[in-house]
Amino acid sequence: MRTSSEKTPVAVTADDGGGDHHPSHAFEGDAAHAFFARSRGLVDERLHQIVPAEEVTPVTVHGAMRWSLFAGGKRFRPALLFAVGTAFGAPDEDLLATACAFEMVHTYSLIHDDLPAMDDDDLRRGRPTCHIKFGEATAILAGDALQALAFQTIVGDERLAAELRIALTLELARAAGTPAGMVAGQAYDLAAESRDGVTIDELDLIHRHKTGAMIVAAARCGAIIAGAGDRELGCVTRYARELGLLFQITDDLLDVTATAADLGKTPGKDARARKATYPSLYGLEAARERAGAVYAEACAALDQLERPIQLLRAIAGFILERRA
Ligand code: IPE
Ligand code: IPE
Ligand code: MG
Ligand code: MG
Ligand code: MG
Repeated sequence: MRTSSEKTPVAVTADDGGGDHHPSHAFEGDAAHAFFARSRGLVDERLHQIVPAEEVTPVTVHGAMRWSLFAGGKRFRPALLFAVGTAFGAPDEDLLATACAFEMVHTYSLIHDDLPAMDDDDLRRGRPTCHIKFGEATAILAGDALQALAFQTIVGDERLAAELRIALTLELARAAGTPAGMVAGQAYDLAAESRDGVTIDELDLIHRHKTGAMIVAAARCGAIIAGAGDRELGCVTRYARELGLLFQITDDLLDVTATAADLGKTPGKDARARKATYPSLYGLEAARERAGAVYAEACAALDQLERPIQLLRAIAGFILERRA
């Protein structure tokens, strides 16, 4: 059981103290890739244990949950939780269940986001979307079950003290729901569809809720599990707020510039659905500039931390430059 961590921070890479904010530094990029691969391995192995096997009834629901979960997502939110938790000295085992919970809520959000009543997509993570493969009713149930299982996983994580489990549950619930979380953002996103005159502030509000909230909470949960203090948690929150916005700006850019093979989802959908996005409102160049500025803000927040931040900065660079 664990309530806080006095442990020495485990630097995944030797720390540097900051200064160079150029994202394409080869060492940083390699470190981020290696870290992502490692956390993905841990998370996938645990998710396989957590999610009922396909043979368990109701087989359609479990098959659909696994179809969407094990289709090759980037596992970004768990990786971020691991990266922050590791920077603050938490051991992997303390981070793992909560990291899996974030991936389950995220995957549920994708299943529902793809439904005909929402974005109506037929390709996700390189496969037919959940409702195309299993039908709408089963896709809705698979999403619902992933969400419930996520909370069950945190609350049932006996490695962590009960108080800590409550704090983590609160973080995830607020980030997933409304008024401060992903569901609110999805509602704002749908309300802005086809509407003229969406302002930059409204667009930021959509992005910070539909995508940013879960990313902020993932980062915060890593720090909370590690026992970070309020000041440090504030810095992590500021970093992740910019990272979350950056993540959706680059998602919007890739919808315009990338291929289905790269993305595992159908590009060009935002324009067809007349979504409010940075490229649609301001053009590609301005969207790229804004991404660069948001990246710099994320790095500036990290510079306030006296912890090994190199990997966290590499992650921001990875998101700025991602191609998928
Ligand atoms: C897609 O998220 C939805 C957004 C919030 C932009 P990801 O780009 O993390 O999708 P996966 O998990 O890798 O499939
Ligand atoms: C979705 O944003 C955010 C979620 C909460 C799932 P998008 O609708 O842009 O995500 P993609 O492009 O379908 O992955
Ligand atoms: Mg959407
Ligand atoms: Mg979508
Ligand atoms: Mg998108």
